[in-house]
Amino acid sequence: MVPRKIAAGNWKMNGDLAALSQLDQMAGSIDGGCDVVICPPALLIHPMASKAAPGIHVGGQDCHAKTSGAHTGDLAAAQLHDAGATHVILGHSERRADHAETDADVSAKAIAAHQAELITIICVGETEDQRDSGDTLQVISGQLAGSVPDCATAANTVIAYEPVWAIGTGRTPTDDQIAEVHARLRADLSDRFDDGAQMSLLYGGSVKPANATQIFALPHVNGALVGGASLKAADFTPIIQALSKA
Ligand code: 13P
Repeated sequence: MVPRKIAAGNWKMNGDLAALSQLDQMAGSIDGGCDVVICPPALLIHPMASKAAPGIHVGGQDCHAKTSGAHTGDLAAAQLHDAGATHVILGHSERRADHAETDADVSAKAIAAHQAELITIICVGETEDQRDSGDTLQVISGQLAGSVPDCATAANTVIAYEPVWAIGTGRTPTDDQIAEVHARLRADLSDRFDDGAQMSLLYGGSVKPANATQIFALPHVNGALVGGASLKAADFTPIIQALSKA
């Protein structure tokens, strides 16, 4: 079995009820050649899932490690599932930076998400300083080992490689740099998990219609986690189509 191809959109703190109209146009481009997931702000999960745009899965952007309790402002994995989410992004670099999330936090959240039957999209990625110091592969392997729990399988876990310096900057790594990290991710996952060769590996960071085809042609790149270019159907649709054809 080969890894599933996935075009995932991370809307971050963008979008409102009116933005749901973008889904109709996006759904029109889906031909079954890849999975499509949109992760909107939590308030939009239920309306988005209820819209039932054919072929579009809906995900959260974070969840708590506990199942319920006194955690003001947080959301439990089961609540995301109840609202209609099938996926959840965990350990995004913005969560790691803004909320001091550690690898251990991410792993605990992933266990909670799997218990709630959510598919986790677990993010790893080096900072520019770490890349400049030649530490990229070591950082990636460390984050992967610490953030992905033992209960991960190819069915419940997707890994996204997002270099922090490429997010929202319009800069992307070279093809060789992406391929090198994805080869390392594949090797680490295959060493640790029986079905590690089947886990989907996404690249994220300034993916646009103009560079999607080239990125999707790289070995061990099974899709993308897209920020800015996932907000508008005019941008996300060609990315979905490029992946479908890859
Ligand atoms: P951009 O596509 O806007 O660079 O964001 C990438 C990202 O962080 C997706 O999670």
